[in-house]
Amino acid sequence: MKTLLIRLLIAPTAALAGHLALAANPPPPKPKPRPPVPAPAPAPATSVIAQYLNIDINAPANYAAVTLPAFYDPQVLQGVNTPANNRITDKGATLGRVLFWDKRLSVNNTVACGTCHQPANGFSATTQFSKGFSGINGTAHTMGLANIAFYRDGSMFWDKRAASVEAQATQPIKNSIEMGFDASNGGINALLVKMQALPYYPELFRAVYGDPAITEARIQLALAQFERSMISVGSRWDQGYARTYNAALADKGLSLDVPTLSAQENLGRRLFMNGVNNGGQGCAACHQPPSFALAPNSRSNGLDAGETRVFKSASLKSLSPGQPMMHDGRFTTFEQVVDFYNLNVKNGPALDNRLKTRDGNVRVPNMAATDKAALVAFLKTLDDPTLRTDARFGNPFKP
Ligand code: HEC
Ligand code: HEC
Repeated sequence: MKTLLIRLLIAPTAALAGHLALAANPPPPKPKPRPPVPAPAPAPATSVIAQYLNIDINAPANYAAVTLPAFYDPQVLQGVNTPANNRITDKGATLGRVLFWDKRLSVNNTVACGTCHQPANGFSATTQFSKGFSGINGTAHTMGLANIAFYRDGSMFWDKRAASVEAQATQPIKNSIEMGFDASNGGINALLVKMQALPYYPELFRAVYGDPAITEARIQLALAQFERSMISVGSRWDQGYARTYNAALADKGLSLDVPTLSAQENLGRRLFMNGVNNGGQGCAACHQPPSFALAPNSRSNGLDAGETRVFKSASLKSLSPGQPMMHDGRFTTFEQVVDFYNLNVKNGPALDNRLKTRDGNVRVPNMAATDKAALVAFLKTLDDPTLRTDARFGNPFKP
């Protein structure tokens, strides 16, 4: 079965990989005659890799067969954006992990994906903007990556400009501010040449794809597998909802009080989950449980008057206290976020109807202080400490 999946992976990139495969894969030398005893032990396949990395590509960690809670039911899993040619495999995601943490993928060996997307901060960053390879700040806040598998295609980046997780994956590498392999630095081809000379990559690519050819498409596939594995199921809300989830109910039990949460947290949970005609604030209509990824059809939330750009939000499962929020990282506390939705949503062409009244004006909830505090308390129950410390996502490079 695994071989079959890996074969499926190779198919679309084989043509692209052709000449590289030839260059990097000379015909095997004829075996020399050996004395019959003692038989020489075969060199371990991971020998070169082990000099650089704390991984064993032949005994990779589990990414492909992770058991999700029951509330990740077939209906929820239907929303997963995995393409047919890139199902997660343990080896593929492990290669993705190496790529994600390799500073050599930046033009001056200073910045990796993981430098900005830090697991300890929900794969986001504690600074409003992140510095790229030359020390220059980007202009958008680093997005959290948890639950990225649950976004419809055509919605990567704050403004949804990238077509898929795969298509997005090498854009930071080619970005002039982030990792620097732009046209002036030789583009992606300069990186491919650089990677062929790094001793661990040909071996890793061979282990995953069957031959050592390094192509942009293969880098994209492996990075996407690693990123899609970042699924958040370890928050206090997850633990509680596992007990009230009920497939037979129309709302699957989402409106039921969660036994592991306090009275205040449950009040905030009701405000979040319930619609505006049902005593709630309708947050869940856009930030959809259980992944808390943004609904595919959602538009902007009115941060600035007259806004024409349609923004997305990362999953609310990727937020940790103190982390800057929104595309420009303008808020650092949930209190500020709730105050914003309460009184400060601004009208504009991109504002979503869910935040408007019937006559097209901005809806002003004007919540009581106790409700605002409860909503804040609920947002904190989505924090997932298990994902932050999961060894499968940590830096695999030896110091
Ligand atoms: C210098 C910091 C930095 C580096 C390095 C970086 N990113 Fe990002 N990443 C960002 C920022 C900032 C955004 C939001 C950019 C935007 O929307 O314009 C982002 C957005 C993303 C998104 C979109 C998430 C979503 O929900 O739409 C993905 C996926 C992603 N990065 C993956 C990667 C990968 C893979 C790498 C390495 C190849 C990487 N990033 C390197 C800062 C960085
Ligand atoms: C119309 C859909 C919609 C509704 C309803 C909505 N949001 Fe949002 N939310 C968004 C969008 C879009 C963003 C990202 C906006 C940006 O950065 O430009 C966002 C961002 C956020 C963020 C920051 C996420 C991040 O990664 O930085 C939080 C927290 C949040 N919303 C909480 C709430 C709460 C609480 C409610 C209910 C009071 C709510 N939202 C209602 C669409 C919505």
